[in-house]
Formats: sequence, C-alpha cells, structure tokens
Amino acid sequence: MSSTVLVTGGAGFIGANFIHLLARTRPDWNIVNLDALTYAGNLENLSALEQSPRYRFVHGDIRRAEDVSRAFDTCGSGPVTVVHFAAESHVDRSITSGLAFVETNVVGTQMLLDHARARKVKRFVHVSTDEVYGSLGKEGYFTEETPLAPNSPYSASKAASDMLVRAAVHTHGFEALTTRCSNNYGPYQFPEKLIPLMIANASEDKEVPVYGDGQNVRDWLYVEDHCEAILAVLERGRPGEVYNVGGHNEYPNLEIVRRVLALLAKSESLIRFVKDRPGHDRRYAIDAGKIERELGWRPRFTFEQALPLTIRWYQSQTTWLQRVRNGAYRDYYARQYGS
Ligand code: NAD
Ligand code: TYD
Repeated sequence: MSSTVLVTGGAGFIGANFIHLLARTRPDWNIVNLDALTYAGNLENLSALEQSPRYRFVHGDIRRAEDVSRAFDTCGSGPVTVVHFAAESHVDRSITSGLAFVETNVVGTQMLLDHARARKVKRFVHVSTDEVYGSLGKEGYFTEETPLAPNSPYSASKAASDMLVRAAVHTHGFEALTTRCSNNYGPYQFPEKLIPLMIANASEDKEVPVYGDGQNVRDWLYVEDHCEAILAVLERGRPGEVYNVGGHNEYPNLEIVRRVLALLAKSESLIRFVKDRPGHDRRYAIDAGKIERELGWRPRFTFEQALPLTIRWYQSQTTWLQRVRNGAYRDYYARQYGS
C-alpha cells in the first residue's frame, strides 16, 4: 500500500517547493495538500502537478475540525505522515495585528496534532523557525538548547506551537519532530519578504525600503536546501527531536539589498532607509551541527550560486509576479476547481 504525505500550507512559498521536491524525488508517494489559500497561498505555484494522479488539493483551514478531517479522509487508508507548514508567516503583519497568528499558528497546530494522533499518523514534522530563539548579539549561534525568547507576535505564536508539539511528544508519545530554520529565499516567495520585494521593486525602478540602519543580520538559506533538510528529518530524524537548519550565510540586510541591486544592474540610489520595525531582532545565526552530524544534511547551494538563480527565476516569471502583485492569482482556485 503506498504511503501518503499530508502537507499543510503547500500553496505557500516553502510548502510549494517541498511538494515539487517530493514529486521529483519520491515518485511512489501520494501527496495531499491542505491549504486555506490565504493571501499567501497561490495554487499557481503547483499548476504543473494538477494532472498528477499522485497529487490532491484540499481547500481547507487547519483551524476547522471538519476541514482537517476531510484532508485525512483524502489520504486514504495507507500509512500517513504529516509535514506542517501552514502558518501566518510575516512578522510585519503580526505587528499590525497578531490575532490571526495565534489562531492559525497555535490553535491550528493543536487541531492538527489532535487529528493526527487520532488518525494514527506515523510521523509529524512541524516546520518552525529560528525566530523562536529571539535575537543574538554580535557573537554566538542558536543551538537546539538555546532558551526560547520570541520577540514578535509571529515568533511568539510559533514558539507556542513548538511547545504544543513538544507536549504531544511528551504526554502522548506521539512521533513528532520539529525543524527550526533560518530565513529562506528562492522561487515562489511572496513579494512582501525582503529578497523578493527588493527584486520586484528594483526591477520596476521603484524604491527599495531598508528598515533602520540596514545592519540587522539574517542567516539566509536557499529554499531547496531547507526542503531537503525537512525531508531528511521526515525520513531519518529521531522522534521527539528538534533540528536547527541553516546555511552559515550571515549578511546584514543592506549587503543583501546591494547584492540584489548589483545583480539587477540597478543603482543604489533606489535604496530608502525607512523607520525601523518595532522590536526588530538584531541578529539571527544558526548552528546546524546537529542535523549535519545526525542526518548527514548539508546545504548544497551557496549564496553566490542561489541568489542569481533566484533573481533569474523572478525575471523569467513576470506573469507570476504580475498576477501576485495585482491580486489576480486569487481567482485561480475558482477557475481551476470550480468553486
Ligand atoms: P507562506 O506565508 O508563504 O505560506 C503559508 C501557507 O499557509 C499559505 O499557502 C497559506 O494559504 C497557508 N495557510 C495560512 N493559514 C492557514 C490555515 N489557517 N489553514 C490552512 N492553510 C493556511 O509561508 P512560508 O514562508 O512558506 O513558511 C512556511 C512555514 O515555514 C511557516 O510555518 C513558517 O513559520 C516556516 N518558516 C519560514 C521561513 C521563511 O523564511 N519563509 C523560515 C523558517 C521557517
Ligand atoms: P523578512 O523578509 O520580513 O523576514 P524576517 O522578518 O522573518 O527575518 O525581513 C528580513 C529582514 O529584512 C528583517 O531584518 C527586516 C528587513 N526588511 C527590510 O529592511 N525592508 C523590508 O522591506 C522588509 C520586508 C524587510
């Protein structure tokens, strides 16, 4: 009997890349994608798989019991694993309004855990973030033992979801694992996050906003490397463990923006320093030694390789970008699936 992976949030940035990776590398697995299609969900990201007999889309919300049940019913009677991406993911939106973050990231995660246990799911991978650890000074790295100290409503809601996963492991012996990754970049990222926003704006000769002094540091990882790490954890991770994922690619934001502008052959005069994000974490940096030692995972892409790849992807996908920016992508589900 063939096994099925239930992916939540598969129409978003990392989830869509993960589904494409599965489709390429695990030809005998079935894939069910449960996604509510919020503003961040774009089914056009998966249009290439629509005709595949191995892929099914379920339009539903992880906060609603009947939707989660329907998604598990769609998985059939063989062994099922879950990879949980669905989340509200943008820090700036969480600063404007935090409630949806608690509802989806916290309540939605518990809803999924409850159903997954009841359905005797074999493995559950919870995709979390390095932001749960808070902010670093100039030195040091986040390890899996670093105490959680989230600073934004987004990271606080993710930390809460991590604790619920931990509780399911501890209390019920449920086979769940957590990944905490640094900032991702690559194809299909919604142009509200730093790198795609810079590419989209600069390509149209619009200003590129840099928060504060531009010296906040992030540790950038190409999305395909993150997806391979999640797959390694799904297949070979130790139950109950947390795995940090990162690429040792630390750069201040201003350096990222300058590189994007240089690769696009655009002038640095497009840079606008704007008011800083409230509570802006200064530095993130990941020690990924555990996943490297235990699972043999290593990033395959350097920043020097993958930033140009990412820029070329956006340059070749002008229709995708235009439809995201003018909102037309939101009609795709009704057109393709008829409701
Ligand atoms: P994204 O915002 O691009 O996609 C989120 C997806 O979840 C969308 O398709 C959206 O429609 C769906 N979704 C939202 N609320 C839902 C709900 N209530 N029910 C069902 N589906 C819902 O996010 P992303 O950048 O792909 O991030 C995916 C996961 O990875 C998140 O859990 C995030 O915390 C984590 N993460 C992201 C990064 C990053 O750099 N983007 C880094 C580390 C970890
Ligand atoms: P972002 O992509 O929102 O990811 P996160 O906040 O989860 O790290 O932002 C990455 C960094 O870039 C962060 O330090 C904030 C900064 N930033 C800007 O300077 N300008 C922008 O327009 C955006 C969206 C982010």
